[in-house]
Amino acid sequence: MKKIVVLISGGGSNLEAIAKACQIGNVPATIELVISNQPNVKGLDRAKKFHLMSKVIEHQKFNSRDKFDQALLNQILPIEPDLVVLAGFMRILSKDFTDALSGKLINIHPSLLPDFPGAHAHRDAIAARASKSGCTVHFVDSGMDSGPIIMQKEVEVLSSDDEDSLAEKVKKQEHILYPQVIDLFSAGEIESP
Ligand code: GRF
Repeated sequence: MKKIVVLISGGGSNLEAIAKACQIGNVPATIELVISNQPNVKGLDRAKKFHLMSKVIEHQKFNSRDKFDQALLNQILPIEPDLVVLAGFMRILSKDFTDALSGKLINIHPSLLPDFPGAHAHRDAIAARASKSGCTVHFVDSGMDSGPIIMQKEVEVLSSDDEDSLAEKVKKQEHILYPQVIDLFSAGEIESP
């Protein structure tokens, strides 16, 4: 069994998809800890629903990015996780953090990277009249939505789509892609950069 730590900031629907896949034995891994940088988010309720250990580490309570990142590492490193999964975690991480977890830190982003990085991927895809969008799982470095791409899933963007309908379509694919990538990683089929 591989050990996973999941970092969230909000809804946690990807967390739920991963937790479900682990629970039913589709992914040979256990979620050892969920960390949220925001209190009172739905993702924390979802962690509880799956009986997962969770902690809140609020970034506002630290006076620098480095101190917040160090507090995260202090929780993560003793677990000796095989994989640290960012699932809607809305913070940029310092180089010290990404270096400490090099090859074990992955993120999911709701676009076909390198297109539309940043916090408004769906809005940007629609504004650009893209005919395709999707989601990308990638290794994380200290840049914004950069780092080697592991796998992507496409969806069609229709002229009738708005931000919400596109987000919903892409999320469905995210919930398939993320557990799939974690499964492949657990089987040693994904090479770390
Ligand atoms: C997802 O769309 C993911 O791609 C992005 O943030 C969103 C998180 O959603 N990084 P959820 O919290 O997993 O529901």
